[in-house]
This record gives sequence, structure tokens and C-alpha cells, in this order.
Amino acid sequence: MADRYLNFTGTAPGRFLTRRLGLPQPAPLRRWSAEHPTLEGELLHLTAGDSQHTSTLAEILARTGLKEVTATDARHVSAVVLDATALSDTPGLAQVHAALHPVVRQVAANGRIVVIGAPVSASDHHQAAAQQALEGFVRSLGKELGRCRTATLVRIRSASAAESTLRFLLSPRSAYVSGQVIEVGDAEPAPCDWDRPLAGRTALVTGAARGIGEAVAEVLARDGAHVVVLDVPSAQAELVRVADRLGGTALPLDITADDAGERIAAAVSASAGGGLDVLIHNAGITRDRKLANMAADRWDPVLDVNLTSVLRTTDALLSSGTLKRGGSVVATASIAGIAGNVGQTNYAASKAGIIGLVRSLAPRALAEYGVTVNAVAPGFIETKMTAAVPLLIREAGRRMNSLAQGGLPVDVAETTAWLSGAASGGVNGQVIRVCGQSLLGA
Ligand SMILES: NC(=O)c1ccc[n+]([C@@H]2O[C@H](COP(=O)([O-])OP(=O)(O)OC[C@H]3O[C@@H](n4cnc5c(N)ncnc54)[C@H](O)[C@@H]3O)[C@@H](O)[C@H]2O)c1
Repeated sequence: MADRYLNFTGTAPGRFLTRRLGLPQPAPLRRWSAEHPTLEGELLHLTAGDSQHTSTLAEILARTGLKEVTATDARHVSAVVLDATALSDTPGLAQVHAALHPVVRQVAANGRIVVIGAPVSASDHHQAAAQQALEGFVRSLGKELGRCRTATLVRIRSASAAESTLRFLLSPRSAYVSGQVIEVGDAEPAPCDWDRPLAGRTALVTGAARGIGEAVAEVLARDGAHVVVLDVPSAQAELVRVADRLGGTALPLDITADDAGERIAAAVSASAGGGLDVLIHNAGITRDRKLANMAADRWDPVLDVNLTSVLRTTDALLSSGTLKRGGSVVATASIAGIAGNVGQTNYAASKAGIIGLVRSLAPRALAEYGVTVNAVAPGFIETKMTAAVPLLIREAGRRMNSLAQGGLPVDVAETTAWLSGAASGGVNGQVIRVCGQSLLGA
């Protein structure tokens, strides 16, 4: 659905009027396109203290295509990366201020500020205080920046394992991701063709006949994956259209079927490579009512589609070996599962359950099967689901985030694609909000 307010603020009278009235000032987000696949402009690589990661980070940043400059030469800064991994006590935080205070005004619209931190220590409370402080700092900065600029904290153990994450954050693909804290482990990244990072991978996307699932399938195919798209049999015609357009395979199937895992395994065993590298749990439904008015026929299907079937099929595809080593599972949570929502006890329970599943399964799935498990948690995304929301609530949902606008299905798809690559093997057990830093559950 068109965001008429965003279009209005893009006109001179609209800008004038909304400024005078103190209303939100959304600007168009610059997303990935084949013509403009990278951020355009300069990169500032700053360091607080003596980091052991400086040279590896410099090599990775040089490969982003951004031109590295010093603060004094900067003219059009698109990205600032501050390496704060060496911070081990709170007096050191002054260096964060000293590094970013002079440059923050120079960051162009749609620019990125990425702070790189270290894991928070369980045994050194001075280091823990300093590193945890970065979280509050970045979340506040994200709220201050405006003009579609974003701020993110990435906690790393090894710089080389963070390459896919830094490439994602320092690109237009992450336009609607802000205020996030992402932990990257030290798994040695698989070699990657960065133009087609999913080449040779087979990906199954549930709920792919329309909406976010269709966009996910499209972006995974763009990045080189063979996509198997799944949706309910009643959506077969749309599903086949999506599969044909993407050169993929349609699998009409209700994901709540007891034997869904076996049927997926049978379908993908016939595909190139035999087996699955990427499993995207996107299918989801809502049946909203306040709990007092919610009969079991609204509770049960939501829990079944959104959560129980995700557990059942993941277990079946892991234990049967259908999901191959080096594979990735990405489930779909929601900020409703973090913040809660009136009329959505069923939906929010199901989406919070996804977060529990991801955090518990991720370390074991990696140790036993060599598979990563992460989740995306979309905020307000412009789809048929949100077009059905009453006007005033829809407007509030759209504006109550740092970017003052709703996201698009492609924003969730880009985040999912980053988590689906073999090069992202160091990213495990993470729940990434794609919400423009929504105020809900912040
Ligand atoms: N749109 C948003 O703002 C938003 C926000 C947060 C989370 N999400 C989540 O993102 C996912 C996609 O949302 P959307 O807005 O694209 O929804 P949508 O309703 O447009 O699409 C969902 C798809 O899932 C399919 N599906 C439903 N039940 C199924 C089943 N039993 N088996 C197989 N397929 C089934 C539907 O047929 C449909 O094609 C959902 O999990 C949703 O909860 C969406």
C-alpha cells in the first residue's frame, strides 16, 4: 500500500507544512538496486584504543567498495566504522565520544554508523560495563540520526568471521535495520562469491506465494539460490507463478501437516545437490481477538502454523540429514513477540516462542549438524497483512520508528538472505529486528 504521507513530505509544500507542525519527516530509504548495489561515498575507519583487529578490518572495509578517507579529508561520508573492541574500562568510553562527536554531522543521508565491540565479559565487570555501554550508546544514536541514517553495534570475536555482516550493514541492503546489536562468533567463513553469495545453495521458503515470503524467494534467487517455494494448496496458482518467475520449484503443502518434514525432504531430494542448504520459516497467520473473546479456534491455528510446525519441520529436516552441514535456518519472529500487542496473545506467544526456539537450538544445531539458526523479527512491513489494519493504528505503526516509515517485504528478504549465506556461519542464535528501530519493545 502506498505511503501517501511519505510522498507528501517529499514535496516542498509537504516538507514546509510538516516541519511547521512538528510532524515526522520521513525521507525515502535508499535500498539495493542493480544500478546502485553499494553505498556511494566515503568511509571513515576509526579506532578507540589499540585494537588487534585493525588490519583485518581495514582489508574487509577496502572490499566494500567505499573509499576510505581521514576525518580531515572527508567530504561525503556514507559510513563510519568505529572499532571499540579494545575498550576495557569506562574511562575508555571518552574515546568513543572523541571519535564520533566531531564526525556525526558529516554523515550523509542514508549513511551508516557501525560500532564494533567485543563480547561482554562474564569475569571482568569493568570490561562488561564499558562494552555494554556501547549498546545504549548505539541505540540512542540510532534514534538521533534522522535522514535515514542508521546505527548498529556488532560484537565480534574474529574480524574475518564478520565480513558478511559488515558487507550487509555497509550496503543499501540493510536500509531498514537500525539500533540492532549483532553478535558474531569466530567460525571461519566459507569462501564466497560476493556477487552471488547463495550460488549452489538450495533454499526452501514457506509462505512464499505472496508478501514477505515471495520477496524472500526473489532475493534468495537473485543471490544465486535454487528456491523451492511452499504455500498452502489453495494458493497453488500464485505459487506456481512465483516459482516459474524465479526458475524455482513449487511445493503446494500445508506446513501444519504431520508429515510436512518428510514431504519437503522428498521434494528437495530430487533437486540439484539433493538436500537443503537453507530453510526459511516464513509462513504465518494472525487471528486477532482480545483473550477474553478468543475461542480456541483462533488460538490453535496461530500456534500451530507459526510455532509448532516450525519446530516439527526443523526437527524432521535436521534429524533426517536433509539440512546439510553448512546450512542455515531462518525463522520469522515479530516485534509483537518482543513487545506484545493488544488482541494478539496468540500471535505474540507464537512469535516469542520462535525466539526461544532459536536461542536454545542454535548452539546445539551448530555443534551437532553444522547448521546455524537465526530469526528475523519484522516490525511494520507494508503487506496485505498490514493493509488490513485500521487507518489510525496503521499510521501509528508506520511512524513509530527511527526512520518514520514502514518497511517493505524486500527489507526482511535482504536480512534473511544475509543470514542464509555460508559466509554468515559466524552468525548464530541471533534475532535481528527489521523494524527501522521501532519504539515497540525497544
Ligand atoms: N507484515 C508484517 O508487518 C509482519 C510483521 C511481523 C512479522 N510478520 C511475519 O512475516 C511472515 C510473512 O508475513 P506476510 O505479511 O507476508 O503475510 P501474508 O499473509 O501476506 O503471507 C503469509 C503466507 O503464508 C502462507 N501460509 C499461511 N498458512 C500456511 C500454512 N499452514 N502452510 C503453508 N503456508 C501457509 C499464506 O498462504 C501466505 O501466502 C509471517 O510469519 C508474519 O507473521 C509480518
